[in-house]
Amino acid sequence: MDLEQFVRALPKAELHLHLAGAVKAQTFRRLARKNNVQLPPFRDIEDLYRYDNLVDFLQIYDLVARSVVDADDFHLIAYEALEHVANAGGRYAEFFFSPQVHQDAGISYETMFSGILKAMDDAEKDFGLVSRLIPAINRELSLDRSFEFLDLVLPFRSEKVIGIGLDYDEEPFPPAPFKPVYDKARKAGMRLTAHAGEGGPAANVRDALDLLHVERIDHGYRVMEDAELVARCIADDIAFTVCPSSTVILTHWRDLTDADHPIRTMLDAGLKLVVDTDDPPMLQTDLAKEYRLLAETMSLDRGTLARLALNSLDAAWLDDSTRRDWRADWSKQIDRLLAEPEEVRAGH
Ligand code: ADE
Ligand code: ZN
Repeated sequence: MDLEQFVRALPKAELHLHLAGAVKAQTFRRLARKNNVQLPPFRDIEDLYRYDNLVDFLQIYDLVARSVVDADDFHLIAYEALEHVANAGGRYAEFFFSPQVHQDAGISYETMFSGILKAMDDAEKDFGLVSRLIPAINRELSLDRSFEFLDLVLPFRSEKVIGIGLDYDEEPFPPAPFKPVYDKARKAGMRLTAHAGEGGPAANVRDALDLLHVERIDHGYRVMEDAELVARCIADDIAFTVCPSSTVILTHWRDLTDADHPIRTMLDAGLKLVVDTDDPPMLQTDLAKEYRLLAETMSLDRGTLARLALNSLDAAWLDDSTRRDWRADWSKQIDRLLAEPEEVRAGH
């Protein structure tokens, strides 16, 4: 079995994927046309999925989001996003979506949630992919807006709408001010995560843990600037959802083969990492490709890839008995995969 076959067959969970970032270029073009959304000039629609930094990326991300209008549109993009996860061998997904950008376009929360929740049911029926939704706060908007977000999201809280996240550009918008919003969400029974240490300093990772009380950290690369915090995250078994292609395209850590790349140093330090995609079609990737990229650029053996896949199950917001059952099942499948002779195929 070659590496490509191995990473696709590996049972794994996707825990860091943004719905608007998971819209295929062709679907974006179709929805923009249908809903009369003006796009910048392009030759191939794929040209719009090229950017050099997070700020440029977020402009296109918002444009994609604004192309999604009715419940059928939300169903379509969520269904295709989950199909993409399943096709990469994902067995479970927790995914973010950014309701505020749609709200600003005049779309009701009922419209967004009805389309997305139906797609989650359909994906479970059609691909056996169980999924959970994490509405995420746009940290660039005001604190008032994030309280309003909570008032609109909490009525939809359910087994499927499982927690909240904090995304968009972290560097100018640190996590600390969102403490009261996170307190309220926690009291309402929401699970908690936040983007921290992607562009902002290690102190943001500490604040996300100490003030927001998040259970895991999205990205978190700059935790490596604080050795004491690293030691604490290891002791507390904090999971970091890291996204290799996203670092190459959206951060200044462009070279995964670099000995100083934070994913390399986080792994070597012994932090608990979960490999994820962030925005798969917008970053020209899928979950299997992210595992393969890490294996190829960081010379990870298959045992290490299997350990990373099991981390994704440990860090997932599943109930303990489901996790135990799935762990037994995944471990059996992984043992079988690891027992297969390794083949190297030209070009892979
Ligand atoms: N989508 C929304 N915010 C994002 C971020 N900070 N990084 C990648 N994709 C995002
Ligand atoms: Zn992200």
